[in-house]
Amino acid sequence: PLFEAFNNGDGGSKLEEKEEAHIKRSDFPPGFLFGAATSSYQVEGAYLADGKSLSNWDVFCHSAVEKMEIMENGDIADDHYHLFLKDIENMHSLGVKAYKFSISWARILPRGRFGEVNPEGILFYNKIIDNLLLKGIEPFVTLFHNDFPQELEEIYGSWLNPQMQYISFLKISFNYSMYYGGREEFLHLAEICFNSFGDRVKYWITINEPNIFIEWAYEYALFPPSRCSEPFGNCLFGNSDMEPLIAMHNMLLAHGKAAKLYHDTFQPKQGGSIGLVVHCLMFEPLTDSDLDLKAAERAFAFNIGWPLDPLIFGDYPEVMREYLGSDLPTFSLEEKNFMKNSIDFIGINHYSTIYAKNCINSRCSSTGNRSINGFVDFVGERDGIFIGELTGLKDLYVVPRGMEEIVNHIKIRYNNKPMFITENGYSSPYVSNEFVSDILNDVKRVEFHSKYLASLAKSIREGADVRGYFIWSLMDSYEWFQGYKVKFGLYYVERQGLARIPKLSARWYKSFLRNNNDLI
Ligand code: NOJ
Repeated sequence: PLFEAFNNGDGGSKLEEKEEAHIKRSDFPPGFLFGAATSSYQVEGAYLADGKSLSNWDVFCHSAVEKMEIMENGDIADDHYHLFLKDIENMHSLGVKAYKFSISWARILPRGRFGEVNPEGILFYNKIIDNLLLKGIEPFVTLFHNDFPQELEEIYGSWLNPQMQYISFLKISFNYSMYYGGREEFLHLAEICFNSFGDRVKYWITINEPNIFIEWAYEYALFPPSRCSEPFGNCLFGNSDMEPLIAMHNMLLAHGKAAKLYHDTFQPKQGGSIGLVVHCLMFEPLTDSDLDLKAAERAFAFNIGWPLDPLIFGDYPEVMREYLGSDLPTFSLEEKNFMKNSIDFIGINHYSTIYAKNCINSRCSSTGNRSINGFVDFVGERDGIFIGELTGLKDLYVVPRGMEEIVNHIKIRYNNKPMFITENGYSSPYVSNEFVSDILNDVKRVEFHSKYLASLAKSIREGADVRGYFIWSLMDSYEWFQGYKVKFGLYYVERQGLARIPKLSARWYKSFLRNNNDLI
């Protein structure tokens, strides 16, 4: 699914959510971790500071601006690189107990395996980790959240080429299977991070949303390296329909190798845990026809099972093999063994619910004739009624019941493996020339979180092993190719002076975390 910025000022919904949520901190277990999340490229800025090299995103934003809707980039972003102490202080004052952030690969290893570790990069993350711990905030560290050194892309073709031998600019199509093998670059990064930070970091996330990254980088050409296939005309490179499948395969094996290293070598002495985060939409069948019911199941398999099944069962969902045949890469026996049970927890990024509509016998509008989405179309309305209230991103609707439903779904499929809601958040519909006072008075965001939390609490009461919840995002930041107009933050960030100003939702979170329903 594709979530474009949605310019709709009214945010009106035809679906009424009458029930007002009176959710309390005490509705969750005492040790449940409440947190906030960000990612390196979206907040750090300082894109050339202290030995960092250019990342894929730096180069993409600098060179591909003409084709981007918004000519913005993360050069400065929220300047978290220099203002992180302020941000940690803000989190402390909110009372959050966990912070999910990501490592900028280009800060730690500016040239990948072919250069030295950058000590200033290590120092930066050491400072973040130490200051978080001083304030009683648990670091949740993501190793890959969309950005990596550009050199790995240009010379080696990054995720398409595990051996780093594939030269992307040749635009050749060949038997990719001969290139399956080492995932050495990622493993190298992981080892350095476990070594440098693992004495203090107890929660590792190898990769954030591989399913979104792969689709957007290799199918819709909205993320670097801007690759896509036939139905999508505006890509820089033509490619094979198999590329998303290949890139995902390499990414999952990269995860598997890093997780094995962690479990074998680091976990015994450091005692932490490792997981991976998946973008988990809830899919509801558009109609109660058998075809749509099956489409909703396929949507789950092709979007969520695609990355998760291998990490728990050691292989892709059966239904993917059925539809994709030999286009779907295979794991060797040895790989199956180390992929299986390679996560200690499942990270769930949940934002919305969407209807799944079968398109096996017609032309699928979302993907042309391609099967990457399992011959399912995703639609937001039925009989002229939207599935939920609109948000600032097209195809993301407010559907609180979806939280309970997705958690139950994952609980059942994966035998109640420990889960964290690693992201949940609301972007307000974009209004041009909006008053800052309106942005700060984000009543809708407060409602969103209250209702989604009520739904989550229900799933926990029903036995789901969910251990934490992170709000996306601590503060407004660079929303990838859609720029700064898409706002998810608890804090508004002034683009000029970069001051962080708490929104109503920040005050609400603070009261909630103190188990107090009055706004502080
Ligand atoms: C999930 C991604 O991890 C994050 O980078 C993004 O900003 C949010 N979704 C909102 O789209």
